[in-house]
Amino acid sequence: MLNVATKVPPVRPAFLFTPQVEAETSAIWQTVRSRVTPLEWRLQAPLIAEINRLKREKKAVILAHNYMTPEIFHGVGDYVGDSLGLAREAQRSDAAVIVQAGVHFMAETSKVLCPDKRVLIPDPNAGCSLASSITAADVRLIKQRYPGAPVVTYVNTTAEVKAETDICCTSANAVQVVEWAAKEWGSDRVILIPDEFLAKNVARQTDVKIIAWRGRCEVHERFTASDILELRAAYPDAQVLAHPECPPEVLEVSHFTGSTAAMTDYVATRKPKQVVLITECSMADNVACEAPETEFIRPCNLCPHMKMITLENVYDALLYDRYEVTVDPVLAVRAAAAVQRMIDLPPPAVPARYDLVKARHHVDVELI
Ligand code: 13P
Ligand code: SF4
Repeated sequence: MLNVATKVPPVRPAFLFTPQVEAETSAIWQTVRSRVTPLEWRLQAPLIAEINRLKREKKAVILAHNYMTPEIFHGVGDYVGDSLGLAREAQRSDAAVIVQAGVHFMAETSKVLCPDKRVLIPDPNAGCSLASSITAADVRLIKQRYPGAPVVTYVNTTAEVKAETDICCTSANAVQVVEWAAKEWGSDRVILIPDEFLAKNVARQTDVKIIAWRGRCEVHERFTASDILELRAAYPDAQVLAHPECPPEVLEVSHFTGSTAAMTDYVATRKPKQVVLITECSMADNVACEAPETEFIRPCNLCPHMKMITLENVYDALLYDRYEVTVDPVLAVRAAAAVQRMIDLPPPAVPARYDLVKARHHVDVELI
C-alpha cells in the first residue's frame, strides 16, 4: 500500500558542475566514463554529489538493482545486486531509511523484512508485469485446487501474494527452493508461481513436478530462439548469457543461464572476449563499466518499470522523504515469514546456474 504525498514539490534547484563536484565524483566518473558522455556527466555529477550528501545527512542507504542505469548503479547505489542480494542487504543494513532504486515489489520486500525502517521508492508506479499477473485470491484458489502441495512464490510478487506463500524464491535459488520445499512438505509436486517461463526452466532442472501460472516478464518474454541463433551466427565467438525469465527455447541455444548476479559473476570471472546479455539493457552497461576487456553486443530490451527510477526522483525521494512504502502489519508478518525462509536456506557455494544440458530435455509443467 502506498502513502503518496500530495504536495507538489518546488522546482529542483539547478546544481552546478563545480570543481568541488568534479573532484568529489571523479572516482565514479572513472568507472562510468565508457558508458556516459562528458556532456551527460556534467548534468549528472552535481546531482550524484548532492544525493550522496543527502544520504549521509538522512542516514539513508540506496539499494540499487542491476537494472538501474549506470549513474544510479555506480553513482549512488550503496548496495547493488540481484533481488536476492538486495533482500539480504535490506536486512543487514542498520540505516534508518532505505531508498529502493528498483521496482515496487522490491521495496515491499525490504519493508516486510525491516518493518522498523522507513522504505522509500522514488516512483510508486514502478511495477512489474509478473507482480501484477497474480492476486492473493488467485493463490488461495490454487491452494484449494492442489491441497498439500507447497507454494513457492517468486519474489516478483506483491506482499499480499507473498503472505499466501510457504516460501519465496528468486531466479538465483529457484531450483534449490523447489527441491527443499518438496522434501520439507513430503510432496512430489510444488506450485511455482507466477512466472511461466521460470517454472518451465526450473522443471527441466529437477524431478519435482511443477504446477505453474501464466505470468510473464514483459522484458524477457520478447526474446526468441531465432534471435539468439541469428546473433550466434553473426558473432560466433560471443558467449550468450540468458536470464531464466526467458522462454526455455532461448535457454536451449544460450551458453549460460543465471540470475542477474550470476551473469555479472560470469563476466567478471571468465572475462569472455565478446558477450551478449539476454536481459534488460542497463545490466550490460553496468557490467561493462567494470569489464573493459569484454566487448558487449547489445540486443537488449528495456524494462519500462525499472526505467521510471531516475537520479532526479532518487534525489526527490531523499529530499522530500517520499514515497513511503507501507504494508499492512498482519500481511507483512506472513509475507516476511515466506521471504525469511528463503533467506535462511544456506546460500549455494556458487551463484546458482541452470544446467543447459538438462535444459535441453523437455519436461512439462502443469499450467493453471
Ligand atoms: P534477478 O533476481 O535476477 O535480479 O531478477 C529480477 C528481475 O526483475 C528480473 O527481471
Ligand atoms: Fe518485472 Fe521483467 Fe521488469 Fe524484472 S524486468 S521488473 S520481471 S517486468
